Amino acid sequence: MEFPTYVRNEKLKAWVQELAALCQPDQVYWCDGSQKEYDQMCLTLIDAGTFIKLNETKRPNSFLARSDPSDVARVEDRTFICSVSKDSAGPTNNWMDPREMKAILHKLFDGSMRGRTMYVVPFSMGPIGSSLSHIGVELTDSPYVVVNMRIMTRMGRQVLEVLGEHGEFVPCLHSVGAPLERGQKDVPWPCNKEHKYIVHFPEERAIWSYGSGYGGNALLGKKCFALRIASVLGRDEGWLAEHMLILGVESPQGEKTYVAAAFPSACGKTNFAMLIPPPAFDGWKVTTVGDDIAWIKPGPDGQLYAINPEAGYFGVAPGTSDKSNPNAMAACSRNTIFTNVALTPDGDVWWEGMTETKPPKLIDWQGQPWTPDSDRKAAHPNARFTAPANQAPCIDPDWENPRGVPIKAFIFGGRRSSVIPLVYQAFNWNYGVYLAATMGSETTAAAAGQVGVVRRDPFAMLPFCGYHMASYFNYWLNFGRMIPNPPRIFGVNWFRKDENGNFIWPGFGENMRVLKWIVDRVNGRAIGIESPLGRVPRYEDIDWRGMEDFTHEQFQELMAVDREEWVEEVLSHEELFFKLYDRLPKELIFIRELILSALWRSPERWRFGLGGNGNELAN
Ligand code: GTP
Ligand code: SPV
Ligand code: MN
Repeated sequence: MEFPTYVRNEKLKAWVQELAALCQPDQVYWCDGSQKEYDQMCLTLIDAGTFIKLNETKRPNSFLARSDPSDVARVEDRTFICSVSKDSAGPTNNWMDPREMKAILHKLFDGSMRGRTMYVVPFSMGPIGSSLSHIGVELTDSPYVVVNMRIMTRMGRQVLEVLGEHGEFVPCLHSVGAPLERGQKDVPWPCNKEHKYIVHFPEERAIWSYGSGYGGNALLGKKCFALRIASVLGRDEGWLAEHMLILGVESPQGEKTYVAAAFPSACGKTNFAMLIPPPAFDGWKVTTVGDDIAWIKPGPDGQLYAINPEAGYFGVAPGTSDKSNPNAMAACSRNTIFTNVALTPDGDVWWEGMTETKPPKLIDWQGQPWTPDSDRKAAHPNARFTAPANQAPCIDPDWENPRGVPIKAFIFGGRRSSVIPLVYQAFNWNYGVYLAATMGSETTAAAAGQVGVVRRDPFAMLPFCGYHMASYFNYWLNFGRMIPNPPRIFGVNWFRKDENGNFIWPGFGENMRVLKWIVDRVNGRAIGIESPLGRVPRYEDIDWRGMEDFTHEQFQELMAVDREEWVEEVLSHEELFFKLYDRLPKELIFIRELILSALWRSPERWRFGLGGNGNELAN
């Protein structure tokens, strides 16, 4: 096999050679990451019918792809952590013996790239050359994956230069699992309807993905590497890989505070990361470092520093509008790949929630004519845009700082229509770990399966932790002890509903009010009082300028802690704990007891009055 002269890493050469022999592609192509190469591949994708070029005036240099209707989201039930021992993967991951799995995969990958090109995609997760960054190489037979990887990561020849002769890389093998026999015509979105395997070998630090071309199943730098493999690397090396956005808050006085927030898939990370403060918050600014993944490491000064390992957004399109997220709209205004959104007659894109009135005529995500009377959605609920990170006007000036940005608070929040208050601060680090470990959320379309049921999603990492979830809890507990002044931990819930099923909290930009309280707490300013769950703001602790019509009563509804509901909630924590029993840290059991005793002593529905401390309202 011939290699470009700049490829000097023997391990890489041997690996590519071995897997090319297994997969039997027609040719092997080394991606250099150039604009020219990208443009060329987009043309190839148009020829193949995978891409539709969008209107050059309305959406410059942008494309629409429609996936196979069976390949629209991550497949959690086909995702495996194949550690040597089953126990290391833990009860929340699918597991198979690595030898058994390798045997299956070898059979599937044998000849899987026949009739196709194998692309070699070298990429860096994190700014090239940063000590927090790591290199991966993805071998894929999907040109769609290649062009997405060029937006989502730092990709190309320069990465191989950093890798050098002896550098380490995470090998990532991907095939759509649809070899072409001689003369067989390709389809626009090849995938394998029968077999899908998203497989991680944590000891070997390798990824094998077969059968899907969509999102986290196929863009292997993202969930597979930057979360599942990286969570294992982090545990072994003393850092964290988290499903978190990173944002900066700047006060009118110029005080800058960075926070990281974990919300489950499709629960508002992108929106929160790009928040625009309400007009009354004149002089306040929110800037984005990342919208999905954070790598966090203690710095020499004992503070935690975070980088965004990605270089682009793979954002949920439906619901994104000039009103809900103008920054995201700007980010995907050009140089963007859209997947499974609708097409307008003039060659632009549309999705549910983009405009108040629906366009009279569209082509839906499956390529069918669509009108507002159609009883189907025009865009798939998990339709996404792939856009360069720096195209968001709110991008933080330090987003590529190789040292990262200092994190002062961790925020955790699921989608809960009841039970969980708008915001509360954990009493201390251990309480915070409990709060995060027991986070629950109503499921969304980001993964295949039932939508709208509450499931525990510890740290928003349930589908993304590469090892035993209880060991991960324990690692977090220890992590807080390793640093002198760990970030404060908060819980939030934007999704509480009233008895008519309407959201009580307006959310989006108004979340700034909650963020300001958090930032004030972190910087030692605002007060608040103790609730059974942790410290909470009173009505008067929140800045209501421009939202004075939101009443005390409404706020109390949002903040109420209902004893009956919470007893049920804590019992369902038990369910998770029992599942993880053999490795569950004792701290969590004791904290559960403390919460129960606080609830026991609190009124049936804990609320606070004007300046009261809640207990005064005991009924
Ligand atoms: P992944 O990319 O899947 O990890 O998800 P994400 O967390 O980045 O999700 P995203 O920001 O795309 O979530 C979008 C969903 O959250 C949409 O349904 C929005 O309507 C909803 N959402 C975001 N912010 C708010 C909010 O403040 N209030 C309410 N009610 N909904 C919100
Ligand atoms: C998520 O599901 O959390 C995502 C989208 O961010 S995907 O990359 O497809 O996993
Ligand atoms: Mn995500």
